[in-house]
Amino acid sequence: MTKRVLILGGTTEAYALAAALVPRVGLQVITSLAGRTAAPRQPAGELRVGGFGGVPGLVSYLIEKQIDAVIDATHPFAAGMAWNAEAACRETMLPLLRLERPAWTPEPEDRWEFVEHWEQALAALVRDGAQRVFLAMGRQELAPFAGIERLWFLIRVVTAPEPTLHFPASQLLLARGPFDLASERALLAEHAIDTIVCKNSGGTATAAKLIAARERGIRVILRQRPLRPTVPLAITLAEAVAWSDELLATA
Ligand SMILES: NC(=O)c1ccc[n+]([C@@H]2O[C@H](COP(=O)([O-])OP(=O)(O)OC[C@H]3O[C@@H](n4cnc5c(N)ncnc54)[C@H](OP(=O)(O)O)[C@@H]3O)[C@@H](O)[C@H]2O)c1
Repeated sequence: MTKRVLILGGTTEAYALAAALVPRVGLQVITSLAGRTAAPRQPAGELRVGGFGGVPGLVSYLIEKQIDAVIDATHPFAAGMAWNAEAACRETMLPLLRLERPAWTPEPEDRWEFVEHWEQALAALVRDGAQRVFLAMGRQELAPFAGIERLWFLIRVVTAPEPTLHFPASQLLLARGPFDLASERALLAEHAIDTIVCKNSGGTATAAKLIAARERGIRVILRQRPLRPTVPLAITLAEAVAWSDELLATA
């Protein structure tokens, strides 16, 4: 009998997982996206887009679509979805796996500071006398840095931020990762960046800026990951595929 797995997506890992699972005989793969991107890449298998409507909506969806298992492959900072998935799977007694890339950890030469929220990052910038700051945390998180006059910002985002946000001294750079080391080195040099502010997203796609920062002795302020529920965890694609295969093998 065919089994249905729901992948909660929005990450490179979720696309890779869908591609790896779709060829499995007896498995139907549905990827769910929040709908934040206007024209998202089509994953292998089926795609559904948009919020479920909280835990009750997700529970209804899981029952209606006769889902057999859920793999939460959302971004490490998408904690709301992670908590909803945990609650909905507990309620429906469905197996849930979290596929999550490990966080970045500093090397001895790194000049990193970890913060819990963006206001703390802003306070650190002012405290340290930062002048030319590279903001690389995504357009939806920029608000705490808007309106600041004494700092110059290089703002790199995939799509332009809300027009209501005003950055008096800044340059906007529209670009989508992955970013390689050579271009990150050039970017930091060209704009004479002294501090980078980003999330501790982990993974390889956006890690080159950290290496370039290390080489140039640039400070990096990283926002810590939010608290997420404790559920079975895979940190590699292979582990997640093995988990699905085990699921397929059970009657
Ligand atoms: N946060 C980041 O830094 C970041 C970075 C890269 C990619 N993403 C991706 O962007 C999406 C949204 O991120 P977020 O931080 O806004 O999430 P979030 O705060 O955890 O979730 C907010 C709400 O968005 C909906 N949602 C989130 N992921 C969904 C999914 N895969 N399928 C269907 N609905 C989803 C849910 O709405 P309902 O309650 O209505 O179900 C959820 O309650 C996630 O899928 C994530 O993987 C996030």
